[in-house]
Amino acid sequence: MHPSNSVLLAAWLAWTSLPTVSAIDITVKADGGNATNGHQYGFLHEDINNSGDGGLYAELIRNRAFQASEGFPSTLDAWYSIGGASLSLKKLEKPLSEALSTSLNVAPSSGGYAASAGFFNDGYWGMDVKKANKYTGSFWVKGQYDGQFTASFRSNITGDIFGSTTIQSKSVPDDWTEHTYELRPEIDAPNSNNTLAITFDSSVVDGSLDFNLISLFPPTFKGRKNGMRIDIAEALADLHPTLFRIPGGNMLEGQTNSSWWDWKDSLGPLKDRPGFGGVWNYPQTHGLGLLEYLELSEDLDMELVVGVYSGLSLNGDITPEDQLQFFIDDALDQIEFIRGPIDSKWGARRAELGHPKPFKLRYVEIGNEDWLAGRPTGWETYKEYRFPMFLEAINAAYPDIQVIASGSIFDGHDIPKPGAGDYHLYAEPDTLIKQFGRFDNVETPHIIGEMAATHPNGGTSWDGPMQPWPWWSGSVAEAVGLISYERNQDRIIGAAYAPVLRNLNRWQWPITIVHHAADPALTTKSTSWFIWELFAGHVFTETLPATSEDGFGPLYYVTGKNDITGGHIFKGALFNSTDNADVPVRITFEGVQAGTQAELTLLSGPENPYGYNDPWTGINVVETTKSTLIADAEGVFSFEMPNLSVALLDTAPKYGRY
Ligand SMILES: *[C@@H]1O[C@H](CO)[C@@H](O)[C@H](O)[C@H]1NC(C)=O
Ligand SMILES: *[C@@H]1O[C@H](CO)[C@@H](O)[C@H](O)[C@H]1NC(C)=O
Ligand SMILES: *[C@@H]1O[C@H](CO)[C@@H](O)[C@H](O)[C@H]1NC(C)=O
Ligand SMILES: *[C@@H]1O[C@H](CO)[C@@H](O)[C@H](O)[C@H]1NC(C)=O
Ligand SMILES: *[C@@H]1O[C@H](CO)[C@@H](O)[C@H](O)[C@H]1NC(C)=O
Ligand SMILES: *[C@@H]1O[C@H](CO)[C@@H](O)[C@H](O)[C@H]1NC(C)=O
Ligand SMILES: *[C@@H]1O[C@H](CO)[C@@H](O)[C@H](O)[C@H]1NC(C)=O
Repeated sequence: MHPSNSVLLAAWLAWTSLPTVSAIDITVKADGGNATNGHQYGFLHEDINNSGDGGLYAELIRNRAFQASEGFPSTLDAWYSIGGASLSLKKLEKPLSEALSTSLNVAPSSGGYAASAGFFNDGYWGMDVKKANKYTGSFWVKGQYDGQFTASFRSNITGDIFGSTTIQSKSVPDDWTEHTYELRPEIDAPNSNNTLAITFDSSVVDGSLDFNLISLFPPTFKGRKNGMRIDIAEALADLHPTLFRIPGGNMLEGQTNSSWWDWKDSLGPLKDRPGFGGVWNYPQTHGLGLLEYLELSEDLDMELVVGVYSGLSLNGDITPEDQLQFFIDDALDQIEFIRGPIDSKWGARRAELGHPKPFKLRYVEIGNEDWLAGRPTGWETYKEYRFPMFLEAINAAYPDIQVIASGSIFDGHDIPKPGAGDYHLYAEPDTLIKQFGRFDNVETPHIIGEMAATHPNGGTSWDGPMQPWPWWSGSVAEAVGLISYERNQDRIIGAAYAPVLRNLNRWQWPITIVHHAADPALTTKSTSWFIWELFAGHVFTETLPATSEDGFGPLYYVTGKNDITGGHIFKGALFNSTDNADVPVRITFEGVQAGTQAELTLLSGPENPYGYNDPWTGINVVETTKSTLIADAEGVFSFEMPNLSVALLDTAPKYGRY
């Protein structure tokens, strides 16, 4: 066969084997869209299975203060003896503090042959030890000892020591004394299976020593004392989040009405924080308390959605109407703590704790998922008196605060004005697609306070297991959901991914936007991370009406502009194209001239729609392609989108937030 014929034949074969798909033509008007209220992208954080303690919160020592809380007696978890010392828990007559009433007694072995006695802690399943880091340690001790303490990083596998320092004892028998130190490793530990050891000279000590609040921090995000782990906070900061919902979730409700997330217990010096039983089956330190959350919102420039306890707990405890005022007052105190002037009672407390400047707070949510726990009575009482009482009291004191109900109109709540709703969606991809029009023409404002694609298609939903990881086609379905919310950005305040973090050593909920362990090398951005980052990084100040003969599906999109950057923006997701074909897209923005440049970012995924980002291989299955497009003579931007892809076109691609 003549070579040119074979080329022609190949071309013809390629042409015939690909289905012909006509272009989707989209024309975007210059104005007349839905005004924005500053549509937010963000996340919900709560300390699910060590995603706070042992996750975002940078403390390296696990069980640092032997705290006890409802359902969790004090234990010696994570503590091990050195040199034959015997370790025991003591409730001394003179505890370190009222909050931290149990301490660690360390008695050198009676044999006396080991000069060095003490203990080590193996952290939240290891510790990252790096030469470049300065670690800040502290502990309290009581007992007669005139010698030195040694603090050292050790391999839990080989016993190698990576760095150590000595601390002269100031300890006395009848009182607690704090010791602080800095530890700089001499070398990087080869893995994260490391411990912190504290030892003392047993030949000098008189009897035994008591220890408590044994703490060790690596450098923290923005250098905050008692702060956040840098790599995790950075992975969140890089998402350009603007919405931060705290403190959960189920965590806010607590198991019972005596163990809800009491913000007052989470303030002040660590020695005054008793800890918290939580709702995820392990005790929490409350080191990541309200002020730490607020400071993170400030560091990341996020809008807060603060959940206040609404009088319903997970066991179905419901606060009767005549007792609810206590919790309303508590919520008003909390709001005053967050944004009150420094001459108010709680504003003064905030100033005393080092933050005189009020935080910005516009959104307060009453409870969490009140339609779920204690149903049906829980939900009935919420609609009857709990929500209305909070709404009225908060808006009387703070008319500018948008009070948000913990359910949506789709949960059967006819939310009284001027309240907003909260819609949660943990779903199969097809459900996200099916609900594309859900919020069109809904009058009541809502946040999407928790959302993620969690279950595979197939209709089993909560009857079947979740996917083990966030996966590509699920993430693309989230993009479709986000587009549907952003189209209605005059009523949808924003959307929060939830939950945000998974500790790979101890998790219960596999679908999170970032995964982590002690070793920062395992910190992994999920497939969803890339989609949320892309959409959040290009903000609309106004949506722009778009028309197309094709309607929505398989291409879902929203168009808008940003008055700060001057950008015209298209956000699109292609979910299940016909016959798996690439789809040509042609976009015309009214008023955008021929020759205008735009940046196109295309996210495409692996061949297997269930592909995910695996922390242990480190392979990112999301492919990001950036290209520059130029509007043709008719002012049209043309490009193609493959099946299961997400596109973002911006004529002024810089981050423009307002
Ligand atoms: C450290 O070693 C102890 C045994 O000495 C073991 O029980 C513990 O699980 C180890 N911890 C880690 C994080 O490897
Ligand atoms: C090191 O720590 C990791 C995480 O805890 C654990 O999975 C692994 O088994 C440990 N390795 C050794 C040799 O102890
Ligand atoms: C996480 O917490 C749940 C309780 O909600 C507990 O049942 C589970 O064992 C924990 N997961 C792991 C892996 O420890
Ligand atoms: C706590 O819940 C119980 C019902 O389980 C209820 O009788 C009691 O009034 C509640 N107390 C408060 C303060 O909400
Ligand atoms: C998309 O395709 C997958 C796989 O064929 C199918 O399970 C799913 O139902 C489709 N979803 C939609 C919304 O077309
Ligand atoms: C604005 O919202 C309406 C109704 O919810 C929706 O139909 C319309 O498409 C939205 N406009 C834009 C430009 O997205
Ligand atoms: C789109 O791609 C997904 C994943 O490859 C596939 O399951 C689906 O069948 C494709 N859609 C169509 C309609 O071919």
